[in-house]
Amino acid sequence: MNYVVVGAQWGDEGKGKLIDFISDDIDIAVRFQGGNNAGHTVVVGENEYIFHLLPSAILHKGKVCVIGNGVVIDPKALLEELAGLKVRKITITPKQLKISGLSHVVMPYHRILDGLRESKRQNKIGTTGRGIGPCYADKVTRCGIRVIDLLNPKVFKSKLADNLKEKNETFQKVYKQKGFNLDTVYNEYIKYGKKIAPYVCNTAIYLNKSIQQGKAVLFEGAQGTFLDIDFGTYPFVTSSNSIVGGVCSGSGVPPTKIDKAIAAVKAYTTRVGEGPFPTEFTSKFMDEIREKGNEFGATTGRPRRCGWFDAVMVRYSLMVNGISDLAIMKLDVLDGLKKIKICVGYKYRGKEYKDFPMDFDMLCYSKPIYEELPGWQEPVKGVSNYSDLPRNAIKYLDRLEQLLKVSVKYVSTGSKRAETIIRY
Ligand code: IMO
Ligand code: MG
Repeated sequence: MNYVVVGAQWGDEGKGKLIDFISDDIDIAVRFQGGNNAGHTVVVGENEYIFHLLPSAILHKGKVCVIGNGVVIDPKALLEELAGLKVRKITITPKQLKISGLSHVVMPYHRILDGLRESKRQNKIGTTGRGIGPCYADKVTRCGIRVIDLLNPKVFKSKLADNLKEKNETFQKVYKQKGFNLDTVYNEYIKYGKKIAPYVCNTAIYLNKSIQQGKAVLFEGAQGTFLDIDFGTYPFVTSSNSIVGGVCSGSGVPPTKIDKAIAAVKAYTTRVGEGPFPTEFTSKFMDEIREKGNEFGATTGRPRRCGWFDAVMVRYSLMVNGISDLAIMKLDVLDGLKKIKICVGYKYRGKEYKDFPMDFDMLCYSKPIYEELPGWQEPVKGVSNYSDLPRNAIKYLDRLEQLLKVSVKYVSTGSKRAETIIRY
């Protein structure tokens, strides 16, 4: 069986925890898009780990982790992540981690440009500042540098020289910045190349051969469906295809080899960065939920915006991803509320809509139509049997299933592995 796990909202749905506990059933875990803009938190015992580039399954002994061609890799960040694990006595060998030679490299000018572009924009995206957008832009405009180039000094130097000629002019003339010295960048990145070389291979061949041998693969999505470059709330999105469709182009594994797609959603909604958010709470209630849910970005530490569950959004998400099973995360954060709302439609200029709007203006100015359900007072925190949930919590989950027309297989009731309900 080959699975995909994606986020069905704006990221931070709890994919890290979900992936961690379904990793027992798989042999190989693959990242297929995004970069170190992701922040996946996994709690093992009393220890918390946050992964940015490494697949969240990396802590599972005997599993192979793959960073596919669709990912953009900041080698400095990757090496820091590996060094951070080493400090905690976890050494990742080339047998355990395979990196695609076709992945694009996030260069220092991408990181700087990310910030400079933001500073010039009137409508800021609120990016993570990790250089993700500029790196994907170079990939598409065909001037990107790939991991394999770092291993070939001649090719790397000539590509870098070409890039710097153009980029330095932009830095100096448009942004009034100094620009980059060819030798300095070259020497730094050649060193990174040497360090990651043992992990580099043709991961498309590795994955397809492994699948042929009957190995089970888990594709780990980063970000969420509404941050997808095509289906998200453009332009307030990331620069890759974070939906299930991104698996094939981002790993070289064909769609016929994907058996199941699982989506993670929070029992409410959050978003980091700018952009429309129809069900966003008002500030006082926002503070309360943010505090309870510890809703601060795992990558940037920014406070996350919080709101009610939006069934219109999630239904669209389940459709474009072909989801068979749903994981509802962080149900415990809703403990103790008197009433809980679910958005079931939008109202725009006096008309009601049941589908997610394409028009930006409509998305910004739509008012959510809510259904209200009674909350539960007994805590769900730590519950691991569905039948032990308070009656109103079960009612809430039942209603979500009805609205979304997909079954809820997993419910998370806390950050620990044991604080999870698996229904079937
Ligand atoms: P995980 O995998 C939440 C958001 C940023 C910004 C927009 C574009 O942890 O769920 P980028 O740096 O990608 O160009 O920023 O996307 N964003 C995320 N929000 N979770 C993430 O990843 C995100 N990765 C990017 O906040 O709004
Ligand atoms: Mg995150």
